[in-house]
Amino acid sequence: MQGGGDRDSFSSKFGVLAALAGSAIGLGNIWRFPYVVGQNGGGAFLLIYVIFIAAIGIPVMMSEFMIGRSAQLNPVGAFKKIAPGTKWHLAGMLGVVSVFIIFAFYTVVAGWTLEYVIQSVKWILFPDKFGFASMDNVALTQFFSNHYESFTSGTWRPIIWFLVMMFLTGYIVISGVKNGIEKFAKILMPIFLVLLLILVLRSVSLEGGREGLVFLFKPDFNTIKEAPFRIILEALGQAFFSLSIGMGTLITYGSYIKRKENLAGTAVSVVVADTSVAIIAGLAIFPAVFAFGIDPGEGPELVYKTLPVIFQNMAGGLIWAFMFFLLLCFAAITSTISMLEVIVAYFSEQLNMSRKRATMLSMISVGVLGIICTASDEVFGLFNASPDLMLPLGGFFIVVFIGWFFSGEKSRQELSSDGAFKIRYHRLFMFLVKFVAPLAIAFLFALGVYSKVISIFPSLG
Ligand code: TRP
Repeated sequence: MQGGGDRDSFSSKFGVLAALAGSAIGLGNIWRFPYVVGQNGGGAFLLIYVIFIAAIGIPVMMSEFMIGRSAQLNPVGAFKKIAPGTKWHLAGMLGVVSVFIIFAFYTVVAGWTLEYVIQSVKWILFPDKFGFASMDNVALTQFFSNHYESFTSGTWRPIIWFLVMMFLTGYIVISGVKNGIEKFAKILMPIFLVLLLILVLRSVSLEGGREGLVFLFKPDFNTIKEAPFRIILEALGQAFFSLSIGMGTLITYGSYIKRKENLAGTAVSVVVADTSVAIIAGLAIFPAVFAFGIDPGEGPELVYKTLPVIFQNMAGGLIWAFMFFLLLCFAAITSTISMLEVIVAYFSEQLNMSRKRATMLSMISVGVLGIICTASDEVFGLFNASPDLMLPLGGFFIVVFIGWFFSGEKSRQELSSDGAFKIRYHRLFMFLVKFVAPLAIAFLFALGVYSKVISIFPSLG
């Protein structure tokens, strides 16, 4: 990866899984998933989401790995190498462009977690100043809701936390794959999971929490009636977002996976881990949402209002908030690293820049976009809505490429690591990438794009 010579790669099987799970698991699971499920009516949305994960998400993820590992290059270079003289590299470019947008708003939200880390120190040290002792859950919900509003509508703090997160990401990416990404992910992801599970225990045992479980798990298709195509496209977009697929992140990470690893097994493990964490996050949030009388359709602020109130209901109180938001911040960084890595790999391999220079340049451009996001709710909303359109589009090209342009023989070779692994599912896989995934994506995209755009720009309706 340092240009020429031996390309950097993940050093162990566990390291690969940790880095990939680190990329997939993040704010998408803890912040975006619960509020999107909440806005779109719960169980029915979850069911559609899980079907997309299995039937479309896994094949797209495997396809990205195959492209990356066989070419050993960034998304643009990979398409150029495998399909020279064609326009396919534009699909890689689309990915790189999406990264700028998604990386920018994502890092802004990552900055919010830092705000909550710092605030919880104050809340823990001076509880009397805030009068927590005399607050019931309703008053607490109001308190945290006010805090969210005043923080996000302020000017400087969101910018500062955003910049801190961006520089941390840049610093780690400059240190490279093995030293930066892998070590980091290996230690922190497991701790985060334990904390999340403790949170679930508290949340489901809250009085009135049961209703939240019904909301999450009992499909009621009336809830998606009002805008079915937009909602179904949002389920697809959220599936792609949560799995980190559709913009070349996993082409890039795939290029760091060694030939001795089994790509299909790796993809399935990552997908199972990511989806479990999203559902666990739902289990932590929804019982509390219903127990405290919060509106599940609240929007992006949902978890930032709900979680602190759950913590206040636990022995130890906001000490949990401190730990949780700190780890969420780490989980977000393992995801931002994977986004920045796409741009850095592209700049350094295609435009011959040094890793350091490539990182600096990406940070300046993403920095500008992110600051605009903190300043304008409209821009933030637009960027935050973009994954639902950009990622399925990118995913479409990726599966069509593997299904129709990468020969069946080459695909078998890549998936079996040159015959080292038996693959019995090859025909199923080819069927999914040739027909099911492209047709489903194209169909859902065509039907959903109009109502999605109207939801972003209501004035066009
Ligand atoms: N999947 C990550 C999350 O859930 C976010 C992310 C990282 C991502 N890399 C990506 C999303 C690439 C889309 C594409 O938090």
